[in-house]
Amino acid sequence: MLANMSQWLTLSRAAHLLGISRVALQKRIREGELPSFDGMVAADDLQRIWPELDLEESGSFEKTRAIREDAFARRMRERILPTQEALAQRLFAQGQELAELQRTLTRYHRLFETLRARLDTGPAPAADQLLRLLDEGLAQALAAPAPAGDVAALDAMLRVMSAHVTVKPSGHEFFVEGSETLLKAALRAGLTPNYGCGNGNCGLCKARVVTGEARPVFASDYRFSEAEKAQNHVLMCACTALSSDLVLEVLEAGAPEDIPEQRIVAKVRSVDALSDEIMRLHLQTPRSNRLRFLAGQRVTLGLSAGVAGGSDLHAEFPVASCPCDDRNLIFHVGRRVASADSSQDFSQAVFDGRIKAGADISVWGPWGRFVLEEDSSRPLVFVAIDAGFAPINSLIEHAIAVDAAESISLYWASTQPGGQYLPGQCRAWAAALDEFSYLPLAADELPAALAHNAALPLSDIYLAGAADRVQPQAAALLADGVPPRQLHVETL
Ligand code: FES
Repeated sequence: MLANMSQWLTLSRAAHLLGISRVALQKRIREGELPSFDGMVAADDLQRIWPELDLEESGSFEKTRAIREDAFARRMRERILPTQEALAQRLFAQGQELAELQRTLTRYHRLFETLRARLDTGPAPAADQLLRLLDEGLAQALAAPAPAGDVAALDAMLRVMSAHVTVKPSGHEFFVEGSETLLKAALRAGLTPNYGCGNGNCGLCKARVVTGEARPVFASDYRFSEAEKAQNHVLMCACTALSSDLVLEVLEAGAPEDIPEQRIVAKVRSVDALSDEIMRLHLQTPRSNRLRFLAGQRVTLGLSAGVAGGSDLHAEFPVASCPCDDRNLIFHVGRRVASADSSQDFSQAVFDGRIKAGADISVWGPWGRFVLEEDSSRPLVFVAIDAGFAPINSLIEHAIAVDAAESISLYWASTQPGGQYLPGQCRAWAAALDEFSYLPLAADELPAALAHNAALPLSDIYLAGAADRVQPQAAALLADGVPPRQLHVETL
């Protein structure tokens, strides 16, 4: 039984509410600052540790305040039916009332517990003592309400706006914002559910609703068997959450071998230069045929002879984008040294403008095992050399989405002066995340910089770049005591 009558929240919900990572909450629990019970934390304790100022900064407070202000402006215009914003405002007000009632009840509960403990132990108090205890307890129970921005009221409001989904058997959790589909929300959270077409045809995204309710957001052609209907199966790509808490049984990919090989045709959205040496190739897949892959994996890109101006061109590239956006695939294509047959080179076709917006590119894959170790909670160290940043970028975006580690360090070494072609993005990660550090450096400085990091043997290290740079660095790390299973290497 829970120790008091405060509102209890799961760690995910508390982290979502406060706008901080789940690992940050776990750290406070480990350090004894934040009490927890059976994986839950009390709203009162959150309020105590993260006072109102933090809540305002978390964005949750802003979100609800904006809705309230918007609702006020619209109220004059509405006479018959309330708008969604007005309904949200009223829910927020009711949430505050409920929170205050709950708080008062909690205080009464504590008063009774105190009195009972007093009567249970030692001699019975005299009548005047009992009266004084009662008066003091009642004064506390009826004390002034807590300031606006109360955790419990905000949580009540956010429960309306975003549903919480627990996935079985993995125990993964994610939030569904507004009426987005379960599939979209799961991918955004870095999960790897089974799926195919993404538009209600193939049935691969089937999930069983264990508790709660889901409802379709569009009509799908897929027909469930009678047994599946009886077991509450839904299509994740076609349904959203109706209940604020939903438990789903979902088939998830845990390793690269769980992802099927796919061959699709994508269109070039854009080609633009990130630097003199690197071009960004942006492909978009058809809505009904997206690429399923794990962060850090590679694919083979192919260009037909007609477009390539000769024979078919093929080359393998790591996907630089996150699987959470499975329609938009980004690649960082490096310039290759010109040679006699450079016209037969896919990279050359990108640089000389033969690959343009609107062209069809075949995408085949995914390949490779350079993926995040999901079961590890060790600090993450990413080491990119030149365009080795591409798979590292995908891994970092995924690691941030799934709250994978307490700390992330990024070393980006370049063989060219200033060759870190997306410095703004790395600085933005470092600015936005407390436990993220970014160190740009010249390739020759990398060995010494890594040798200075005493925490490497306790970390998971992901190292990517050209083979002639990466292999000596990997050997040096192993010689310095990094356990082989903690070192993940990708050569381009
Ligand atoms: S992914 Fe094909 S039906 Fe949902």
